[in-house]
Amino acid sequence: MIDKLDNTAKSGDIEGMKPQEFIRLSERSYFGGKGGSGTYQTIINQLPKHLTYVSGFLGLDAILRLKVPARFNIGVEINPDITAIWKAATFPQKDIAPPQLAILQQSFFTIDLPCFYQASTLLYLDPPYTLPERKSSNRYPFEITMQQHRQLLERVVQLPCMVAISCYDNDLYKEYLKDWRKISFEVITRGGTMATETLYMNYPAVAPNQLHDTRFLGSNYRKREVTKKRLNTIYGKIERLTDSEKAMLFEELKIIYPLQFTKGTTAITNGTR
Ligand SMILES: C[S@@+](CC[C@H](N)C(=O)[O-])C[C@H]1O[C@@H](n2cnc3c(N)ncnc32)[C@H](O)[C@@H]1O
Repeated sequence: MIDKLDNTAKSGDIEGMKPQEFIRLSERSYFGGKGGSGTYQTIINQLPKHLTYVSGFLGLDAILRLKVPARFNIGVEINPDITAIWKAATFPQKDIAPPQLAILQQSFFTIDLPCFYQASTLLYLDPPYTLPERKSSNRYPFEITMQQHRQLLERVVQLPCMVAISCYDNDLYKEYLKDWRKISFEVITRGGTMATETLYMNYPAVAPNQLHDTRFLGSNYRKREVTKKRLNTIYGKIERLTDSEKAMLFEELKIIYPLQFTKGTTAITNGTR
């Protein structure tokens, strides 16, 4: 699997062009969506290795479509028009097995899954923004009330799994998530204005080799491009090695960098939390 993913990374996901997708939907752009350039990369760069990924307010979840899939992937969405789009999803990466994906048409407020109680689960929540912080007058067919935001926060602070939650920061989130780590970053909204997105997380920052998907490392477009070019130069050189030279190189790398070659599950059970 890793070799195959390396190949897809090499094939070049150039920002500004269509990003590489593991799951393709007939619709991709969504009000409040996280698919804008710079946004999904920043969020993916905060996600530790995980076996199960749950998206609690699915929308057209750009993170689920663009990051390396988890072993199990679950999307929870109340709007049947949105779940219908996911049920017609295609998997464009032909050389890897399609991700295991379950789409549940249900309210996140009525759902309780066994994986919520496993440390290897990453629960990503991107609920409709709180109305006072909204940057546009657009409304989802299904909104949540301030009371439900409170209910959501009361619940997530109790969960033992890894939780990351997106919002436009506000007093309610600050109060409930005061002990959580948070990052804030600037995004361009669909209306073309600047906004500050906040991502709250109940787990500590992780080293690059503990990230679930390292392909978007780099704090901005230019840095990501430089890294991509440097890696592509190395991939080109590796491609030109003979088979026995490649075998020697990979074996030597395992000896020199043993920790980098341990499986993701080891990193999880050793505690990213
Ligand atoms: C901000 S959008 C998610 C956008 C998504 N992250 C993306 O990249 O496209 C919030 C989604 O939550 C859904 N939603 C609203 N109330 C919900 C509920 N109680 N349970 C589950 N989903 C809900 C909305 O229908 C909407 O699709």
